[in-house]
Amino acid sequence: MAHVQPASGTSRRSFLRAVGVTGGAGAMFATMGALGLAPTAAYAAEKEAPFRAPRRGDFTLQGRTGRPARVVVIGGGIAGLTSAYELGKAGYDCVVLEARDRVGGRNLTIRGGDSVTDVHGVTQTARFSKGQYMNAGPGRLAQWMNTLDYCRELGVEVEVFTNSNASALIYNERNGMTSPVRYRTAKADVYGYVSELLAKATGAGALDADLTADDKERLLSFLRGHGALGGDYKYTGTEHRGMSVDPGAAGQPGEVLGDVPALTDVLASNVGRYFSFEFAYDQAMLMFQPVGGMDAIPRAFARAVGHERIRTGAAVTGVHNTPSGVEVTYTRGGRTEVVKADYCIATLAPWILARTPHNLGSTVQTALQAVRASSAGKIGLEYRSRWWEKDFKIFGGITETDLDLSHIWYPSYGHLGERGLVIGYYNTGSNADAYSALTPAQRLERAVAQGVKIHGEKYRTELATSFSHQWKLIPHIEGAWHSMSGGPDAPAFAPLNQVQGNVYFAGDHLSHLDAWQHGAISSARKVVTELHQRVLAS
Ligand code: PHE
Repeated sequence: MAHVQPASGTSRRSFLRAVGVTGGAGAMFATMGALGLAPTAAYAAEKEAPFRAPRRGDFTLQGRTGRPARVVVIGGGIAGLTSAYELGKAGYDCVVLEARDRVGGRNLTIRGGDSVTDVHGVTQTARFSKGQYMNAGPGRLAQWMNTLDYCRELGVEVEVFTNSNASALIYNERNGMTSPVRYRTAKADVYGYVSELLAKATGAGALDADLTADDKERLLSFLRGHGALGGDYKYTGTEHRGMSVDPGAAGQPGEVLGDVPALTDVLASNVGRYFSFEFAYDQAMLMFQPVGGMDAIPRAFARAVGHERIRTGAAVTGVHNTPSGVEVTYTRGGRTEVVKADYCIATLAPWILARTPHNLGSTVQTALQAVRASSAGKIGLEYRSRWWEKDFKIFGGITETDLDLSHIWYPSYGHLGERGLVIGYYNTGSNADAYSALTPAQRLERAVAQGVKIHGEKYRTELATSFSHQWKLIPHIEGAWHSMSGGPDAPAFAPLNQVQGNVYFAGDHLSHLDAWQHGAISSARKVVTELHQRVLAS
């Protein structure tokens, strides 16, 4: 999956997104109007059919003969838990088999005392202090995501996750930057010069074929504000860049940050490449996180499903359709056991199902093998002091870099407190693979050496303890998300989007929101609906 921009956007949606980037919301709504898409109409058109949870009463409806069936759910991640939870509402007898020692799948929060052993047998135990945690997997929820509906329904308290912050930094070493620049400064310079250029082109008549005299006037007035241009439409920098001395009492007006770089240097630094991120449909503020850690979601699901229905440490060793249902074998504590059920919902990673004995057929096997695992990793760095708040005035948000650590996340919780936990790298693809090849101590050393370039020596000296997590190396998961050529609706994946005998497949990979819990939930809801309709009609 594309890292910064999700690859799944329709062309219409990306067109609207592009307009939104250059013209702001007003221009976007005007364009939508011109396309015959009043905002409400566009919203309705893009909305999926609302999910209707199965209910006990469904079975007593006239003409229905079915009864709640027994369902074995493979995988206690978000797709599996959603499936068991929703089916449970109608009285289905579900059992969830989870290979790892806790539910949640990639929704994983690491706290002090937690241990994880990777596929090479390397064990790390987190030494974070009380109250400090790291979300090793999902960390942010957009306002429109169905994940928040479950937080409401299950009583999971949420707080704002700061996904963009004008005070956070950008550091492009390979573009020749020798020190980081604040987002607000980078934006002021890029938007300032771009506005100046566009104003110049407008003034010179280069856009006369596109603009009426009134259009020009309105555009110029927009550019003057957007780029903070002077009376002559020149960009010379303003307080949008930040202040080198903050304003204070009478007599202390403060000082605007000076040293405005030349246009050519601004372009060469390529800081502008990060700005579109915050316009993305899945990444735009406000965003949210559960209070105390993302795993509040699977914990709440597990409570609602019933712990007695969930078997952890149960690694599936066989999935077979039988004439009357399904048989799923698994090992648990060294013993092989079998669950017989009417239906199965398989939510385990496709590359793991592909090497599990099954009788789902060769088209399913080919489709499973066509799904490739993507890499991502994070390191949690606990610090004795919140120097990023005290010294840098950064409260949450993300610093972007072209170093192999990629992103640094500052915590969106515990502001003004004593200690704090920074995500010292969140990287993907080959950068994540490079860290996976290192020992935990080497990962720490590499991440800290790079962080020092951005934040100075406190990045090393204030460090208390760390924990790194590489999704490709996690047993029973072995990937962060998926790369699927053509997306989930490509013909290659068709066998996974339909029931095979009595086996359904669900997971974020079978959604248009791979790498998001929303995708896992959407996919689970789809198979829950299909299974329930089939049972009702049976
Ligand atoms: N959902 C993940 C995240 O927000 C992965 C992702 C990144 C997905 C960027 C889309 C865009 O970090």
